[in-house]
Amino acid sequence: MCGIVGYVGSRRVVPILLEGLRRLEYRGYDSAGLVYQFDNQLVRYRAKGKLANLEAVVDEHVGVASGVGLGHTRWATHGAPTENNAHPHTDCTGELVVVHNGIIENYSSLKNELTAKGHVFTSETDTEVLAHLIEDCLQGDLVAAVRAALARVEGSYAIGVLWAKEPELLVAARNHSPLVMGVASDACYIASDIPALLPYTREVIFLDDCEMAVLRKGTYSILKVDDGCPLEKTISVIDWNASMAEKAGYRHFMLKEIFEQPQAILNTVSGRIVPDTGVVDLPEIGLDPAAVNNIERIALVACGTSWHAALIAKYWIEKWVGIPVEVDIASEFRYRRLLVNERVLTIAISQSGETADTLAGIRRAAQLGSKVVTVCNVVGSTMTREADGIIYTHAGPEIGVASTKAFTCQLAALFLLTLYLGQVRKTIDPVTQRKLGAALIDVAGVIETELPRLQAEVKTLIERYYESKDFLFVGRGLNYPIALEGALKLKEISYIHAEGYAAGELKHGPIALIDRDMPVVALAPRDSVYLKVVSNVEEIKARQGRLVLIGTSGDEHLSTLTEDVLYLPEVCEDLNPLLYTIPAQLIAYEIANRRGCDVDQPRNLAKSVTVE
Ligand code: F6R
Repeated sequence: MCGIVGYVGSRRVVPILLEGLRRLEYRGYDSAGLVYQFDNQLVRYRAKGKLANLEAVVDEHVGVASGVGLGHTRWATHGAPTENNAHPHTDCTGELVVVHNGIIENYSSLKNELTAKGHVFTSETDTEVLAHLIEDCLQGDLVAAVRAALARVEGSYAIGVLWAKEPELLVAARNHSPLVMGVASDACYIASDIPALLPYTREVIFLDDCEMAVLRKGTYSILKVDDGCPLEKTISVIDWNASMAEKAGYRHFMLKEIFEQPQAILNTVSGRIVPDTGVVDLPEIGLDPAAVNNIERIALVACGTSWHAALIAKYWIEKWVGIPVEVDIASEFRYRRLLVNERVLTIAISQSGETADTLAGIRRAAQLGSKVVTVCNVVGSTMTREADGIIYTHAGPEIGVASTKAFTCQLAALFLLTLYLGQVRKTIDPVTQRKLGAALIDVAGVIETELPRLQAEVKTLIERYYESKDFLFVGRGLNYPIALEGALKLKEISYIHAEGYAAGELKHGPIALIDRDMPVVALAPRDSVYLKVVSNVEEIKARQGRLVLIGTSGDEHLSTLTEDVLYLPEVCEDLNPLLYTIPAQLIAYEIANRRGCDVDQPRNLAKSVTVE
């Protein structure tokens, strides 16, 4: 949430900042701003709304900028999304600026104290407190002043600071909000996330909590915030490239990412299943066989779409491995009494690896002695650095705010985990294991084949539904979480009210909602609960419900129930969720597109939720 970008080098800074902000806009788009050093002054531009508004303001000045600057794209926490609340924020003199991602929790008491000392505030943000606090501590040494100010701050932050009197210096720091430094032969960068750096460098340094970076032209150093001691940090090389974070001819990132799923799933599986034997190898999981055999219970922790992946993994692990699994929404997990100990394996599932609640959850679990493994997409993210073990999903950068390919890759990774646990604990026989591994690879091929046809069919189908105000999605067993996911996708990008239900729950209340204005999408593959789902569908039909059915090719019965059936080939029952999520994604995408919604940047949302 919120994206920050900074540059220290010799090139014109404004185009670099704008390109960085364009690549970070998925983190927030309530307002944007930038600042650069020029002629011993700070030149600042801010605009309410999307980045395009800022670009319109700064365009004519691009030619005059020097090589040091900061940019920010905002997801509002404190203060409305106005130009006045847009970052960068300044101190009283206008000579010091701050950009910030996070929340300063004690901002109110600091503001009172600084106001009493004569500081004049001009915004409603928590961030502005930082600018005045640093000003208050400043006695000629910006690095010392930032350190002194941060010693007084409670909360989360990734910040960048410039001072007009030190035109070649940029100071950055982090605590509980992501910040990565990019290193090139002629320049240094800071950014909230890797995509902003990809056009310039793939060599990065991940800052950890309570660390700061001091960037000067031609040099940089990393220090501890508390005592100022220098730190040796390793440079990591990222294997993503700049074009992976482009639209590549697709109208939206979301559509591109839907179509990337077959390859992304294969990338996630690649090298992890030994071809002839089906043996699963997860070298980074950080659990030896004794540790796997000692697991008494698994706690799965995640938010949003990643939580839906966790719900599916519970079915798989309990079925194939026989270990009890609890699934928690991270914002609940972190605050309840946790019955977690060294015999419980905690698994955090996260695309970004930066979600504040999930991070807090794994920290609590680790304190209680639990081993922590993360299923994560972003290399070097905070979760991957704090966990004992990692299973990377190899989805590539996911830019669309609505998660698609990260979700199916999480499912692929969690299925691999299930096979791995079953292999070590000998709960899956080798023949079955080989078949299940092969089925996982096959499902990627089926998605690849079916996607173009499905998109065309969904496009036609939604003409009859796109104006609806409400939707229900229902499914049973492994497809119940897909019903939740279908409803989440639809509501977040089309703003249509949608709910997901376990089909068997309908008659316990929600069936009262059924009428001609409440379309129901029912997931009805020919699986072990097929007949039960069909009974529920009959109950909906009997109440004049409008039905969209998604089922198995050749199942003629479905077309007697409604004219709107999307057929999918039969795959291994366990892997139906990977396949059945595809039409659900397409329904959400095509409806949102038809309604003229901003698919990649839905209102009020931001991709990486780094505040609680
Ligand atoms: C929905 C969506 C969110 C994320 C959630 C967790 O399409 O993308 O619900 O799944 O914010 O994010 P990560 O996986 O980064 O922890």
